[in-house]
Amino acid sequence: MKNNSLILKEFLNNAFNLKSHLMEFFSMNECDLDRFLKNAKMNLANLHPGEALSDVSDFYTEIVGDGHVADLAAWHITSKDYIANTLKLQQRFSRDLVLDFGGGIGTHALANAMSSQVEHVFFVDINETNRKFVQYRAKELGIEKKLTFCKTIKDAKISKFDTVVCLDVLEHLADPASQIEIFYKIMNLTSIALFNWYFYKGEKNEYPFHIDDVQIIERFFDTLQSNFLEVFHPILITARAYKKIR
Ligand SMILES: C[S@@+](CC[C@H](N)C(=O)[O-])C[C@H]1O[C@@H](n2cnc3c(N)ncnc32)[C@H](O)[C@@H]1O
Repeated sequence: MKNNSLILKEFLNNAFNLKSHLMEFFSMNECDLDRFLKNAKMNLANLHPGEALSDVSDFYTEIVGDGHVADLAAWHITSKDYIANTLKLQQRFSRDLVLDFGGGIGTHALANAMSSQVEHVFFVDINETNRKFVQYRAKELGIEKKLTFCKTIKDAKISKFDTVVCLDVLEHLADPASQIEIFYKIMNLTSIALFNWYFYKGEKNEYPFHIDDVQIIERFFDTLQSNFLEVFHPILITARAYKKIR
């Protein structure tokens, strides 16, 4: 296990060997990798079928393939200071049994698994490529025993988590209010949840997959404010920590 400052240093240094993991897992050379990462955000947006999509989750299970890995990898590499702050935030709160919901390329789950404060991390992601890629990364980093990979929270077969991490995911769900109701049920009174959200499709529709429906968002904030109490932290104003109100 590593101390928190070493974990941050390793992320800032090479994002936990992200580029070499991408090249090995997807059998790419450096030129392929550059192509893979270049324009990843726009490529992901272009995959979205717009109004024709009837079930939001189909985009992540049937359509994105490795497109989300590329988009998230490019983002975590180019915005490493922001991502490092989200890691600092989870270092402040994470302990014991951790759920990382919508874990993506695994940065947060891997960092939590490296921490001595954390007993085990349950990485949940609906996308099979993401799960397989992060499982591969955990093995490469020698921390695979501290992680379990699941498609849904039910598959984890854990009744209560001490920490719930759900960063940059709520805006991707058809019904974020129902999702935080599920989190509420799997938290103890001492558990902490880390949430952020960006219910916006972007100025030029860069994020067509983000939900922005006013009624859905209003129900989300109503559910959040009636079930969770914010716990102050000085690290990031966009990502919030919560405990259950009762
Ligand atoms: C923008 S990414 C965020 C990844 C990661 N949390 C981060 O901060 O880098 C959103 C992730 O949510 C996952 N996701 C979308 N819908 C989901 C669902 N219903 N259940 C679980 N994961 C989901 C996607 O596959 C994707 O990996």
